[in-house]
Amino acid sequence: MKYEVLHILKKNTHTFVSGQLISDKLGVSRTAVWKYINNLKKEGYIIDSSSKKGYKLLESPDMLSFEEIEKYLKTKYIGKKIVYLESVDSTNNKAKELASKGENHGTLVIAEEQLGGRGRLGRAWCSPKYKGIWLSIILRPDINPMQIPKLTQIAAASVIESLKDFKIEATIKWPNDIILNGKKICGILTEMNAEMNKVHYVVLGIGINANLGEEDFQKDILSKATSIKIETGLTLDRKSFVGNLVNKFEYLYEEFEKTQNIESSIKICRTNSAVIGKIIRIIRGENETFAKALDLDKNGGLIVQYENGTRENLISGEISIRGLNGYI
Ligand code: BTN
Repeated sequence: MKYEVLHILKKNTHTFVSGQLISDKLGVSRTAVWKYINNLKKEGYIIDSSSKKGYKLLESPDMLSFEEIEKYLKTKYIGKKIVYLESVDSTNNKAKELASKGENHGTLVIAEEQLGGRGRLGRAWCSPKYKGIWLSIILRPDINPMQIPKLTQIAAASVIESLKDFKIEATIKWPNDIILNGKKICGILTEMNAEMNKVHYVVLGIGINANLGEEDFQKDILSKATSIKIETGLTLDRKSFVGNLVNKFEYLYEEFEKTQNIESSIKICRTNSAVIGKIIRIIRGENETFAKALDLDKNGGLIVQYENGTRENLISGEISIRGLNGYI
Protein backbone atom coordinates (compact mmCIF):
# COMPACT_ATOMS: atom_id res chain seq x y z
CA MET A 1 0.00 0.00 0.00
CA LYS A 2 2.93 2.31 0.80
CA TYR A 3 3.95 2.13 -2.85
CA GLU A 4 0.43 2.90 -4.04
CA VAL A 5 0.63 6.11 -2.00
CA LEU A 6 4.03 6.81 -3.57
CA HIS A 7 2.59 6.17 -7.02
CA ILE A 8 -0.09 8.83 -6.48
CA LEU A 9 2.48 11.34 -5.22
CA LYS A 10 4.79 10.59 -8.15
CA LYS A 11 1.98 11.32 -10.61
CA ASN A 12 1.34 14.67 -8.94
CA THR A 13 4.75 16.15 -8.21
CA HIS A 14 3.54 19.58 -9.41
CA THR A 15 0.90 19.88 -6.68
CA PHE A 16 -0.25 18.88 -3.18
CA VAL A 17 -2.52 15.86 -2.92
CA SER A 18 -4.91 15.85 0.00
CA GLY A 19 -4.85 13.01 2.55
CA GLN A 20 -8.58 12.62 1.95
CA LEU A 21 -8.11 12.09 -1.79
CA ILE A 22 -5.43 9.44 -1.22
CA SER A 23 -7.54 7.70 1.40
CA ASP A 24 -10.59 7.70 -0.91
CA LYS A 25 -8.57 6.41 -3.86
CA LEU A 26 -6.97 3.58 -1.91
CA GLY A 27 -9.84 2.84 0.45
CA VAL A 28 -7.76 3.25 3.61
CA SER A 29 -8.09 5.67 6.54
CA ARG A 30 -6.35 9.05 6.60
CA THR A 31 -4.33 7.85 9.59
CA ALA A 32 -3.12 4.92 7.51
CA VAL A 33 -2.12 7.33 4.71
CA TRP A 34 -0.19 9.41 7.27
CA LYS A 35 1.64 6.26 8.43
CA TYR A 36 2.57 5.29 4.86
CA ILE A 37 3.85 8.81 4.25
CA ASN A 38 6.02 8.57 7.37
CA ASN A 39 7.40 5.24 6.22
CA LEU A 40 8.26 6.73 2.84
CA LYS A 41 10.01 9.61 4.59
CA LYS A 42 12.05 7.08 6.57
CA GLU A 43 13.10 5.49 3.27
CA GLY A 44 14.50 8.85 2.19
CA TYR A 45 11.60 10.40 0.24
CA ILE A 46 11.31 14.12 0.93
CA ILE A 47 7.61 14.90 1.21
CA ASP A 48 6.15 18.25 2.10
CA SER A 49 3.16 17.78 4.45
CA SER A 50 0.63 20.49 5.15
CA SER A 51 -2.41 19.95 7.34
CA LYS A 52 -4.47 22.09 4.95
CA LYS A 53 -3.12 21.08 1.54
CA GLY A 54 -1.99 17.49 2.01
CA TYR A 55 1.23 15.95 0.69
CA LYS A 56 3.68 16.80 -2.08
CA LEU A 57 6.68 14.73 -3.17
CA LEU A 58 9.74 16.99 -3.39
CA GLU A 59 12.60 14.52 -3.86
CA SER A 60 13.15 10.81 -4.26
CA PRO A 61 16.16 9.01 -2.77
CA ASP A 62 19.00 7.52 -4.80
CA MET A 63 17.60 4.00 -4.51
CA LEU A 64 17.47 1.25 -7.12
CA SER A 65 13.99 -0.01 -6.25
CA PHE A 66 11.35 -0.85 -8.87
CA GLU A 67 9.45 2.35 -7.99
CA GLU A 68 12.53 4.44 -8.83
CA ILE A 69 13.56 2.61 -11.98
CA GLU A 70 10.13 1.93 -13.47
CA LYS A 71 9.88 5.23 -15.32
CA TYR A 72 13.04 4.49 -17.33
CA LEU A 73 12.03 0.98 -18.38
CA LYS A 74 10.88 0.29 -21.92
CA THR A 75 11.11 -3.49 -21.71
CA LYS A 76 8.63 -6.28 -22.27
CA TYR A 77 9.94 -8.72 -19.70
CA ILE A 78 13.33 -7.78 -18.23
CA GLY A 79 12.84 -5.82 -15.01
CA LYS A 80 9.06 -6.16 -14.97
CA LYS A 81 9.72 -7.47 -11.50
CA ILE A 82 12.59 -6.21 -9.36
CA VAL A 83 13.52 -7.86 -6.09
CA TYR A 84 15.09 -4.94 -4.27
CA LEU A 85 17.29 -5.52 -1.24
CA GLU A 86 19.10 -3.02 0.90
CA SER A 87 21.71 -5.62 1.76
CA VAL A 88 22.42 -9.17 0.62
CA ASP A 89 25.36 -11.57 0.51
CA SER A 90 25.33 -11.71 -3.29
CA THR A 91 22.58 -10.82 -5.78
CA ASN A 92 23.67 -13.87 -7.82
CA ASN A 93 23.09 -16.14 -4.80
CA LYS A 94 19.68 -14.60 -4.17
CA ALA A 95 18.75 -14.82 -7.86
CA LYS A 96 19.78 -18.51 -7.96
CA GLU A 97 17.71 -19.21 -4.87
CA LEU A 98 14.67 -17.50 -6.41
CA ALA A 99 15.18 -19.13 -9.81
CA SER A 100 15.37 -22.58 -8.25
CA LYS A 101 11.96 -21.88 -6.70
CA GLY A 102 10.52 -20.96 -10.10
CA GLU A 103 11.07 -17.19 -10.38
CA ASN A 104 10.21 -15.85 -13.84
CA HIS A 105 12.41 -15.11 -16.82
CA GLY A 106 13.43 -11.45 -16.66
CA THR A 107 13.19 -10.85 -12.93
CA LEU A 108 15.98 -8.64 -11.58
CA VAL A 109 17.60 -8.84 -8.19
CA ILE A 110 19.18 -5.52 -7.20
CA ALA A 111 20.96 -4.77 -3.93
CA GLU A 112 22.37 -1.56 -2.51
CA GLU A 113 25.21 -3.50 -0.93
CA GLN A 114 26.65 -7.01 -1.11
CA LEU A 115 28.41 -8.48 1.89
CA GLY A 116 29.70 -11.46 -0.07
CA GLY A 117 29.79 -10.19 -3.66
CA ARG A 118 31.44 -12.75 -5.96
CA GLY A 119 33.59 -12.38 -9.04
CA ARG A 120 34.83 -14.94 -11.55
CA LEU A 121 37.26 -17.67 -10.53
CA GLY A 122 36.16 -17.47 -6.87
CA ARG A 123 37.30 -13.90 -6.36
CA ALA A 124 35.53 -11.45 -4.04
CA TRP A 125 33.70 -8.44 -5.47
CA CYS A 126 33.74 -5.25 -3.40
CA SER A 127 30.18 -3.80 -3.30
CA PRO A 128 29.79 -0.87 -0.88
CA LYS A 129 26.35 0.54 -0.06
CA TYR A 130 24.64 2.96 -2.49
CA LYS A 131 27.90 3.42 -4.43
CA GLY A 132 27.55 0.96 -7.27
CA ILE A 133 25.15 -1.07 -9.35
CA TRP A 134 24.98 -4.66 -8.15
CA LEU A 135 22.34 -6.62 -10.02
CA SER A 136 21.47 -10.06 -11.36
CA ILE A 137 19.12 -10.98 -14.19
CA ILE A 138 17.26 -14.29 -14.08
CA LEU A 139 16.94 -15.81 -17.55
CA ARG A 140 15.33 -19.02 -18.75
CA PRO A 141 16.64 -19.43 -22.30
CA ASP A 142 15.68 -22.58 -24.16
CA ILE A 143 19.25 -23.37 -25.22
CA ASN A 144 22.11 -25.81 -24.94
CA PRO A 145 24.59 -25.00 -22.10
CA MET A 146 27.32 -24.50 -24.74
CA GLN A 147 25.58 -21.28 -25.78
CA ILE A 148 25.88 -19.65 -22.36
CA PRO A 149 29.06 -17.61 -23.10
CA LYS A 150 26.98 -15.72 -25.66
CA LEU A 151 24.94 -14.22 -22.82
CA THR A 152 28.07 -12.72 -21.26
CA GLN A 153 28.83 -11.01 -24.56
CA ILE A 154 25.28 -9.65 -24.78
CA ALA A 155 25.68 -8.24 -21.26
CA ALA A 156 29.10 -6.72 -22.06
CA ALA A 157 27.70 -5.11 -25.21
CA SER A 158 24.76 -3.64 -23.29
CA VAL A 159 27.04 -2.16 -20.64
CA ILE A 160 29.28 -0.59 -23.32
CA GLU A 161 26.29 0.87 -25.18
CA SER A 162 24.79 2.27 -21.98
CA LEU A 163 28.09 3.85 -21.00
CA LYS A 164 28.24 5.52 -24.43
CA ASP A 165 24.83 7.08 -23.75
CA PHE A 166 26.43 8.63 -20.67
CA LYS A 167 29.41 9.80 -22.77
CA ILE A 168 31.75 7.23 -21.26
CA GLU A 169 34.00 5.47 -23.76
CA ALA A 170 34.99 2.15 -22.22
CA THR A 171 36.39 -1.05 -23.72
CA ILE A 172 35.90 -4.77 -23.14
CA LYS A 173 38.63 -7.02 -21.89
CA TRP A 174 37.30 -10.35 -23.13
CA PRO A 175 35.24 -12.00 -21.88
CA ASN A 176 33.69 -10.06 -19.04
CA ASP A 177 35.60 -7.00 -17.87
CA ILE A 178 34.70 -3.45 -18.81
CA ILE A 179 37.71 -1.17 -18.77
CA LEU A 180 38.01 2.59 -18.42
CA ASN A 181 41.42 4.27 -18.67
CA GLY A 182 43.15 0.88 -18.37
CA LYS A 183 41.33 -0.24 -15.21
CA LYS A 184 38.25 -2.31 -14.52
CA ILE A 185 34.95 -0.56 -13.80
CA CYS A 186 32.57 -3.47 -14.34
CA GLY A 187 32.53 -7.25 -14.22
CA ILE A 188 30.02 -9.84 -15.35
CA LEU A 189 29.44 -13.18 -13.66
CA THR A 190 27.30 -15.63 -15.62
CA GLU A 191 26.14 -18.72 -13.74
CA MET A 192 23.71 -21.44 -14.71
CA ASN A 193 21.82 -24.47 -13.55
CA ALA A 194 21.73 -27.02 -16.33
CA GLU A 195 21.73 -30.65 -17.40
CA MET A 196 23.81 -31.99 -20.30
CA ASN A 197 21.52 -30.57 -23.00
CA LYS A 198 19.17 -28.30 -21.18
CA VAL A 199 19.55 -25.05 -19.28
CA HIS A 200 17.14 -24.69 -16.35
CA TYR A 201 18.07 -21.11 -15.63
CA VAL A 202 20.86 -18.58 -15.99
CA VAL A 203 21.80 -15.85 -13.56
CA LEU A 204 23.66 -13.00 -15.14
CA GLY A 205 25.34 -10.83 -12.52
CA ILE A 206 26.57 -7.37 -13.42
CA GLY A 207 28.63 -5.23 -11.06
CA ILE A 208 29.35 -1.62 -12.01
CA ASN A 209 31.70 0.53 -9.97
CA ALA A 210 29.69 3.70 -10.43
CA ASN A 211 30.32 6.17 -7.62
CA LEU A 212 32.96 4.49 -5.46
CA GLY A 213 35.81 6.61 -4.14
CA GLU A 214 39.40 5.38 -3.81
CA GLU A 215 38.73 4.78 -0.09
CA ASP A 216 36.09 2.17 -1.04
CA PHE A 217 38.65 -0.15 -2.65
CA GLN A 218 41.26 -2.26 -0.96
CA LYS A 219 44.65 -0.67 -1.67
CA ASP A 220 46.04 -3.70 -3.51
CA ILE A 221 43.32 -3.66 -6.18
CA LEU A 222 43.54 0.06 -6.96
CA SER A 223 46.13 -0.65 -9.64
CA LYS A 224 43.55 -2.79 -11.50
CA ALA A 225 40.15 -1.45 -10.47
CA THR A 226 38.53 1.95 -10.52
CA SER A 227 35.13 3.61 -10.67
CA ILE A 228 33.33 5.86 -13.12
CA LYS A 229 33.42 8.63 -10.53
CA ILE A 230 37.16 8.35 -9.93
CA GLU A 231 37.87 8.43 -13.67
CA THR A 232 35.41 11.12 -14.79
CA GLY A 233 34.77 13.15 -11.63
CA LEU A 234 31.04 12.73 -12.29
CA THR A 235 28.44 11.07 -10.10
CA LEU A 236 26.55 8.56 -12.23
CA ASP A 237 22.76 8.71 -12.03
CA ARG A 238 22.35 5.06 -11.06
CA LYS A 239 18.59 4.88 -11.63
CA SER A 240 18.52 6.04 -15.24
CA PHE A 241 21.65 4.02 -15.93
CA VAL A 242 20.03 0.80 -14.74
CA GLY A 243 16.89 1.55 -16.79
CA ASN A 244 18.97 2.22 -19.88
CA LEU A 245 21.13 -0.87 -19.34
CA VAL A 246 18.14 -3.16 -18.96
CA ASN A 247 16.52 -1.69 -22.10
CA LYS A 248 19.70 -2.28 -24.12
CA PHE A 249 20.07 -5.76 -22.71
CA GLU A 250 16.56 -6.81 -23.69
CA TYR A 251 17.00 -5.33 -27.17
CA LEU A 252 20.18 -7.33 -27.79
CA TYR A 253 18.83 -10.44 -26.06
CA GLU A 254 15.83 -10.46 -28.42
CA GLU A 255 18.13 -11.07 -31.39
CA PHE A 256 19.57 -14.05 -29.59
CA GLU A 257 16.15 -15.37 -28.59
CA LYS A 258 14.82 -15.15 -32.13
CA THR A 259 17.84 -16.33 -34.09
CA GLN A 260 20.31 -17.85 -31.55
CA ASN A 261 22.81 -15.42 -33.08
CA ILE A 262 24.39 -12.50 -31.30
CA GLU A 263 25.71 -10.66 -34.36
CA SER A 264 24.82 -7.19 -33.06
CA SER A 265 26.42 -7.83 -29.67
CA ILE A 266 29.57 -9.30 -31.25
CA LYS A 267 29.87 -6.25 -33.46
CA ILE A 268 29.75 -3.98 -30.40
CA CYS A 269 32.21 -6.19 -28.49
CA ARG A 270 34.60 -6.32 -31.45
CA THR A 271 34.53 -2.57 -32.10
CA ASN A 272 35.10 -1.82 -28.43
CA SER A 273 37.57 -4.58 -27.64
CA ALA A 274 40.53 -3.80 -25.40
CA VAL A 275 42.42 -6.88 -26.61
CA ILE A 276 41.87 -7.49 -30.33
CA GLY A 277 45.10 -6.81 -32.23
CA LYS A 278 47.21 -7.08 -29.08
CA ILE A 279 49.59 -9.68 -27.71
CA ILE A 280 48.04 -11.17 -24.61
CA ARG A 281 48.95 -13.60 -21.85
CA ILE A 282 46.55 -16.52 -21.55
CA ILE A 283 46.33 -17.91 -18.04
CA ARG A 284 44.94 -21.40 -17.45
CA GLY A 285 45.47 -22.23 -13.80
CA GLU A 286 49.26 -22.22 -13.33
CA ASN A 287 49.90 -22.18 -17.05
CA GLU A 288 50.73 -19.02 -19.01
CA THR A 289 51.09 -18.70 -22.79
CA PHE A 290 51.39 -15.76 -25.14
CA ALA A 291 49.29 -15.19 -28.23
CA LYS A 292 47.91 -12.48 -30.44
CA ALA A 293 44.18 -11.78 -30.06
CA LEU A 294 42.78 -11.75 -33.60
CA ASP A 295 39.00 -11.49 -33.41
CA LEU A 296 35.81 -12.75 -31.79
CA ASP A 297 34.01 -15.74 -33.30
CA LYS A 298 30.25 -15.85 -33.75
CA ASN A 299 29.81 -17.60 -30.40
CA GLY A 300 31.66 -14.91 -28.48
CA GLY A 301 34.89 -16.93 -28.27
CA LEU A 302 38.24 -15.14 -28.63
CA ILE A 303 40.27 -16.20 -31.66
CA VAL A 304 43.98 -16.16 -30.85
CA GLN A 305 47.15 -17.04 -32.74
CA TYR A 306 50.17 -18.52 -30.97
CA GLU A 307 53.79 -17.78 -31.88
CA ASN A 308 54.01 -21.05 -33.86
CA GLY A 309 51.11 -19.92 -36.05
CA THR A 310 48.40 -22.21 -34.68
CA ARG A 311 45.05 -20.68 -33.90
CA GLU A 312 42.59 -21.40 -31.16
CA ASN A 313 39.11 -20.17 -30.34
CA LEU A 314 39.12 -19.56 -26.60
CA ILE A 315 35.93 -20.14 -24.68
CA SER A 316 35.54 -18.18 -21.44
CA GLY A 317 35.17 -20.38 -18.35
CA GLU A 318 38.46 -20.99 -16.60
CA ILE A 319 40.64 -18.79 -18.77
CA SER A 320 41.98 -15.36 -17.78
CA ILE A 321 43.85 -13.04 -20.05
CA ARG A 322 46.23 -10.17 -19.34
CA GLY A 323 48.07 -7.57 -21.34
CA LEU A 324 51.72 -8.14 -22.11
CA ASN A 325 53.03 -6.01 -19.27
CA GLY A 326 50.15 -5.65 -16.88
CA TYR A 327 46.45 -5.91 -16.36
CA ILE A 328 45.63 -4.92 -19.92
C1 BTN B 1 34.15 -10.48 -12.27
O1 BTN B 1 34.61 -9.52 -12.91
O2 BTN B 1 34.89 -11.33 -11.80
C2 BTN B 1 32.66 -10.61 -12.13
C3 BTN B 1 32.10 -9.65 -11.11
C4 BTN B 1 30.60 -9.75 -10.99
C5 BTN B 1 30.05 -8.91 -9.85
C6 BTN B 1 28.55 -8.91 -9.85
S1 BTN B 1 27.87 -7.74 -8.71
C7 BTN B 1 26.30 -8.43 -8.92
C8 BTN B 1 26.46 -9.93 -9.01
N1 BTN B 1 26.48 -10.52 -7.70
C9 BTN B 1 27.66 -11.07 -7.38
O3 BTN B 1 27.95 -11.63 -6.31
N2 BTN B 1 28.51 -10.91 -8.41
C10 BTN B 1 27.89 -10.23 -9.53
